[in-house]
Amino acid sequence: MFAVTAARIDADDPLAGLELGQHADPAPPDGWTTVTVKAASLNHHDVWTLRGVGISADRLPIVLGCDAAGLDADGNEVVVHAVISDPAAWSGDETMDPGRSLLSERYDGTFAQRVAVPRRNLVPKPAALSFEEAACLPTSYLTAYRMLFDRAGLQPGATVLVQGAGGGVATALILLGRAGGYRIWATSRSEAKRERALRLGADQAFPAGARLPERVDAVMETVGQATWAHSLRALKPGGTVVISGATTGPTPPADLNRVFFLQLSVLGSTMGTRDQLARLLRFCEQTGVRPLIDRTLPLDQAREGLAAMISGDLFGKVVLTV
Ligand SMILES: NC(=O)c1ccc[n+]([C@@H]2O[C@H](COP(=O)([O-])OP(=O)(O)OC[C@H]3O[C@@H](n4cnc5c(N)ncnc54)[C@H](OP(=O)(O)O)[C@@H]3O)[C@@H](O)[C@H]2O)c1
Repeated sequence: MFAVTAARIDADDPLAGLELGQHADPAPPDGWTTVTVKAASLNHHDVWTLRGVGISADRLPIVLGCDAAGLDADGNEVVVHAVISDPAAWSGDETMDPGRSLLSERYDGTFAQRVAVPRRNLVPKPAALSFEEAACLPTSYLTAYRMLFDRAGLQPGATVLVQGAGGGVATALILLGRAGGYRIWATSRSEAKRERALRLGADQAFPAGARLPERVDAVMETVGQATWAHSLRALKPGGTVVISGATTGPTPPADLNRVFFLQLSVLGSTMGTRDQLARLLRFCEQTGVRPLIDRTLPLDQAREGLAAMISGDLFGKVVLTV
């Protein structure tokens, strides 16, 4: 089958290890099944894989891609949950399973004509969502859903700052947070992206690092080192920063005096559960929220989409159609 793979790791030039071509068909083990992929979407995770973060060279070549929507073996329309855990070794919230992985970390991912997944990872796709829309949800939108509605513990009407407005997770946070009844403030380095954040439903948008009109209840952080100091300064006493990514680096000064003196909470968040993905699909159905798609490309143009992600030249998700 045709697939997009990470064949080699190159920390400085991630696209150097990208290969497009023939790859062995999936051979699903017991309890797994094969999905015919109709659409898949890119995440920064795919760039991290090509750079060698979260994967070792002995796993290569591996098919990239965490997210997909497609058809199961009986022709039903399904969305693929990307968190793979071992039900024999773990029960409960699969994101807490120390042995969990995401598709494309240990098992071949979704940038292919077909992907093997555990049967329990299939979630019915609502007819109201297209394959392209549904393929955006399992990683960045699920991550945003859990950050906002599970980890942050906010009441509707709270003010939430979203750092780095153009990113896949960040646009999801703006769309879902607005529909969930929060006042969303966003930051971006780019004026054009700030304008687009306002059009998406952000109440106000500010340049990265700007002084805010007042302190916020919670900050949603995926940028990391470049915005961390601002995130802590932006919080009210007792406020919460929820962090699910560190695109610009993982080791900013911790500013511990501010954390204890203002009694701030720093909460990590990773992906979400299968049940949360099912609720996210229903949330989109009920509210009319649809994921923001920057561009849709055929699978064989994945290189172009990854290049746009590496250069930061994106607002929303890149979808690959098969
Ligand atoms: N924990 C999880 O489960 C999980 C799930 C999904 C993603 N993630 C992580 O979350 C992060 C974001 O993922 P994504 O797919 O949304 O990535 P993305 O689409 O590439 O977004 C990155 C955003 O970071 C901002 N940014 C990049 N470089 C910056 C810099 N030097 N200074 C300030 N801002 C900068 C940009 O915002 P502006 O251009 O608007 O300023 C950009 O829109 C990644 O690190 C990813 O690995 C984690």
